[in-house]
Amino acid sequence: MQTETIWNDIYSKGPQTSSGKPGLALSQFVGPLRVGTALELGCARGDDAVWLARQGWHVTAVDVSYVALDIAARNALAAGVLDRTTFEAHDLALSFPEGQFDLVAASFLHSPQDWPRGEVLARAAMAVAPRGHLLIVEHASRAPWSWSPENTHFPTVEDTLASLQLASGAWAHRCLCPIARTASGPEGQSATVTDNVLFLQRLT
Ligand SMILES: C[S@@+](CC[C@H](N)C(=O)[O-])C[C@H]1O[C@@H](n2cnc3c(N)ncnc32)[C@H](O)[C@@H]1O
Repeated sequence: MQTETIWNDIYSKGPQTSSGKPGLALSQFVGPLRVGTALELGCARGDDAVWLARQGWHVTAVDVSYVALDIAARNALAAGVLDRTTFEAHDLALSFPEGQFDLVAASFLHSPQDWPRGEVLARAAMAVAPRGHLLIVEHASRAPWSWSPENTHFPTVEDTLASLQLASGAWAHRCLCPIARTASGPEGQSATVTDNVLFLQRLT
């Protein structure tokens, strides 16, 4: 099945509204930054994009699913930030938004099918403007309700850092760390999970 079909199916069956809450790492790491332009990869229903726009960022938010993008745009409209948000449909394995951004964020940019995730993250790093930041948040453990198989191998921080192929000395590592979080499942379950955070600043 095509990536777009898989995700359209997921978002068609799920809630049609947004949680309205940003990801924990996004709010912690990006909250203190001076606002500018932001690119969000895999924006889903737009929770993070709307939060960024509310802080004053001008956000380009991307997803492969037009169902998710439609919900995200309605979420931005309801929040009064449609003028600071642009939504673009891309299968990031095939195409990537133009330009450079003060912030590039990719939170839980995972997908069930095989795809060149490392190459997409390396492309994401190239889209960071000088002095800008890259934030990658990814699963480092499996929630009991996850669609990922029980024997899933999650990348380590070092694996993901290596996949970015960053020029030596050109980036400051602001945080390369696992964080624990209480996650909520679709039926109200909760579990403690671990995420990996890579928060980097491009120096030149
Ligand atoms: C696990 S969800 C995470 C969503 C959100 N960023 C979050 O933090 O909850 C992954 C998102 O990435 C999108 N996605 C998966 N593969 C993609 C691809 N090849 N190109 C663009 N978006 C993709 C999915 O549609 C989905 O919205």
